[in-house]
Amino acid sequence: MSQASDYITIDPEGAELRVVHNLLLSGVAPRPIAFVSSISEDGINNLAPFSYFNAFGANPPYVAFSPAFSGKDGSAKDTLENVKRVPECVVQAVTYDMVEQANLASTTYPKEVDEFIKSGLTPIDSVMVKPRRVKESPFQMECQVEKIIPLGGGKGSGNLILCRVVLFHVREDIYKDNIINPQDIDLVARNSANFYTRASHEAIFEVKKPTDLGIGMDQLPEHIRHSRILTANQLARLAGLPNLPSEQEMYAFMSPVHKLNADNPYTRKFKQAIAQSENKEEAITRAAQAAIEAGDLHFALKALMTIPLLRTV
Ligand SMILES: Cc1cc2nc3c(=O)[nH]c(=O)nc-3n(C[C@H](O)[C@H](O)[C@H](O)COP(=O)(O)O)c2cc1C
Repeated sequence: MSQASDYITIDPEGAELRVVHNLLLSGVAPRPIAFVSSISEDGINNLAPFSYFNAFGANPPYVAFSPAFSGKDGSAKDTLENVKRVPECVVQAVTYDMVEQANLASTTYPKEVDEFIKSGLTPIDSVMVKPRRVKESPFQMECQVEKIIPLGGGKGSGNLILCRVVLFHVREDIYKDNIINPQDIDLVARNSANFYTRASHEAIFEVKKPTDLGIGMDQLPEHIRHSRILTANQLARLAGLPNLPSEQEMYAFMSPVHKLNADNPYTRKFKQAIAQSENKEEAITRAAQAAIEAGDLHFALKALMTIPLLRTV
């Protein structure tokens, strides 16, 4: 594991608003984007993206987003004004295909301007609420606004809008086995400045949920935990195993090693490592590393546990 460098420590009290804002936007990232449609008392549609946004529970379903007061003049966003008067909205996903249009909708148009028209997106009627939905978005949540929590009241202060989802709409072709396929929905998320993340292709990877009560890093033998070859992620995968191999398991594994199934590249690597006289420990660790990457954690741990045994031979 790499040596940590020094930290710059910042107390938000007394720090410039710009500094705090940028820290949050660049450090809490990428953030999902709520594309929020609301409606004024006079029936004017409003549409704006908000990346201070997330989901907070499923029973009942809640999402929240935060239109902040302007950092320049402290003025309120139209979305906030609208939901104070008409406490309903539709929160929809922003996909790669429509990110520029969502960006266009973030322009500070006057209150009377309908951002559906400006952005060229198509309004369609909602079922349970008055604000209309964005047809182009494949995931839409009709919401009742339950609470508006002011988070300071000054310039740049947020206003947490807590919404109860009363109806979901998801496009048929992206929804399989109760899951929205990440490659198909092609969501985008917001980083800081002009940076966005496209949440598909290589950006998507899997981390298997721990199924057992893992032994934890602290139970890994010292020579494994302090390896200069294995990464923290690889060690964490080993630490997710339910127990260390027993003496009998190690005995069975070691005797005789040449009987191991040699079909796998990592078993072959391991057998070669055992047979070589120079840099044996490193070669064994590299074989174990290959086994971790191939998903054979039990083999990897056993292989690593041979190191102290071989040292004593
Ligand atoms: C991707 C993206 C995310 C944004 N997130 C937020 C946010 O979380 N909070 C906020 O106050 N403004 C955010 N903005 C800026 C608002 O969208 C912008 O101020 C917009 O004009 C507000 O519209 P309204 O006045 O019609 O409500 C974001 C802009 C973009 C492009």
